Amino acid sequence: MRALARLAVTTVLVASPLAAITLTSSANAADDPTPITVVTSDFEDGTVQGWSGRSAETLTHSTTVAHGGTGSLSITGRTATWQGPSLDVLDVFEKGTAYTISAWVRLASGTDNARLSVERRTGGVAAYDQVVGNTAVNSGGWVNLTGRYTLATDVEFLRVYVETASTTGSFFIDDVIVSYVPALPIQTTIPSVKDVVTEFPVGAAITGAEIVTEHGQLLNKHFDSVTPGNALKWDATEPTENAFTYAQADPLIAWAKANGKAIRGHTLVWHNQTPAWVFVGADGQPMTATAEDKELLLARLENHIRNVAGHYGSDIGVWDVVNEVIDENQSDGLRRSNWYNVAGLDYIRTAFRVAREVLPNAKLFINDYNTNVTSKRDKLYNLVAQLKSEGVPIDGVGHQMHINVSWPTISETEAMLQKFAPLGLEQQVTEMDVSIYTNSGENFPTPPADRLLQQAYVYRDMFALFRKYASQITSVTLWGLADDNTWLDTFPVTRKDAPLLFDTRLQAKNAYWGVVDPSKIGTSPSPSTSTSPSSSPSSSPSASPSSSPSGAAACSVTYRVTGSWPGGFQGDVKIANTGGAAVNGWSLAWQYTGGQTISQLWNGSLTQSGAAVTVKNASWNGTLSSGGTASFGFLGSWTGSNPAPAAFTLNGTTCTVI
Ligand code: XIL
Repeated sequence: MRALARLAVTTVLVASPLAAITLTSSANAADDPTPITVVTSDFEDGTVQGWSGRSAETLTHSTTVAHGGTGSLSITGRTATWQGPSLDVLDVFEKGTAYTISAWVRLASGTDNARLSVERRTGGVAAYDQVVGNTAVNSGGWVNLTGRYTLATDVEFLRVYVETASTTGSFFIDDVIVSYVPALPIQTTIPSVKDVVTEFPVGAAITGAEIVTEHGQLLNKHFDSVTPGNALKWDATEPTENAFTYAQADPLIAWAKANGKAIRGHTLVWHNQTPAWVFVGADGQPMTATAEDKELLLARLENHIRNVAGHYGSDIGVWDVVNEVIDENQSDGLRRSNWYNVAGLDYIRTAFRVAREVLPNAKLFINDYNTNVTSKRDKLYNLVAQLKSEGVPIDGVGHQMHINVSWPTISETEAMLQKFAPLGLEQQVTEMDVSIYTNSGENFPTPPADRLLQQAYVYRDMFALFRKYASQITSVTLWGLADDNTWLDTFPVTRKDAPLLFDTRLQAKNAYWGVVDPSKIGTSPSPSTSTSPSSSPSSSPSASPSSSPSGAAACSVTYRVTGSWPGGFQGDVKIANTGGAAVNGWSLAWQYTGGQTISQLWNGSLTQSGAAVTVKNASWNGTLSSGGTASFGFLGSWTGSNPAPAAFTLNGTTCTVI
């Protein structure tokens, strides 16, 4: 047992989240939020602490080896690799919360890979979500598996489990801990990206996690368009031949439609995330460039597109028909994928022809990465020009724009846009993110301030460029919503990246201000801005809270405790200007009578001295027009009781309490 000694006796516990927070009156105390532990299995009490096998394997308490203390859980009698220990978390996990799951694994003998997953069932249908992929384990020591998991659907069955990749030997697990950092409410008073950038729709790639709870609110507030990040790919929609399933995509598309968002379909043909059966010939052998294999492959392609594109019809207005077909290192510029090797260029021709037949009104795109690199850009240009001259119905070129804080330059990017202009096609930025890393060797435990600042300037300059080319560009999509869920955490290597506009707690980063209002980019953001509301522009000298509030003839205040647990609580406060004149800069004061202390506060600036609390506006919510409102939220601690304050004053005027 490594920590949390007082929680050692049972497996599933809801801990006191704020007990360990150092109390401070700083508004930025959320820089390093203390996680709330919901599961701790230390196996120090001589029991299996609620764990059971996935099948007939045997689970026993063991003292043979232990990661911490003297006990661990032993798993023996396995007859298949998927067998292993599992724990019911149905009553523990809440939809939309991002949990960090950590487990220690050690083999009884030999070597293998272990992985950690969640099995969930809805309506009797099982799905298996991998949380930590294959990780080398052995019998000589303990190996940690840590990953993040967000449940996005309603389930009737939910279990965390550990399995191995290839052998069925016995193994041990110990010190399993599941925790989460409390979600912060989204900032509702900052401008919506989509209201600021109006030249073209701005979108985000999404998974199930993005459409629930606060994530869904953030997505809805800021974006006009969504792209399912994985749910429309071949492995998700036709995992076995002619057995189409839309279980992943349908909820995302339904959400988008319900919220009036445009949808980019991604993608009908790609060399990745395509099941192996697609390239197996009628003879059961891998396909080759024979006429027979080519005919079968193109028939499968046609069937796939007719089904998937047809399933959504006009709901999806833009499709990435083919993805990443260019390899600039080939003299003809064409990637030697299975598609190309069997069907040559005809797979691209077929894909566009069929897509057009199914969707006469959709915009059909060819999408690729590194299109700013001259050699790749030119090969893509040549291909598109050739296909266009043949009459292949290509409507647009998609630039993925997976870039980083120091690459590429604006002029390279501008040259990319200019290159394709003569083709008379639409151009879209389809997968933009800005990694904080400049090479695969870097690895930062938390995003450095200078990188986040560089990133903000990249977003500023790139969006300025896109807006300048608004006559060419018909949409810009970011490859994700917030830094808590980005593919760059595991690509090209596993490390925490922070490439998006909102941080891991959904708060606006300087990157956001780079897009929305570059004058508010903080000049010295705190080092941990990507996990903190302190990334708000309140760190900027030009954006500090007003020091001389004025006005406030009449006001009302709504104070709500939105969550409470032993020792801690979360709350929000809404102020309304019920007077006739605008208030420019506000300061709200109250007294706590229960000894409560606020530890973190967002969308405002906090001072607390004993019972007296004063919250001043943040830079962006200081003006309250007549009838206008502002809100802020906070985390606090309490002991004994947690009474709501009885009275509030706004700029010295007593408010009505609602
Ligand atoms: C990525 C997804 O975001 C990941 O979740 C998945 O594991 C791999 O694919 N170019 C593309 C996208 O066209 O489909 C890729 O998406 C990112 C690179």
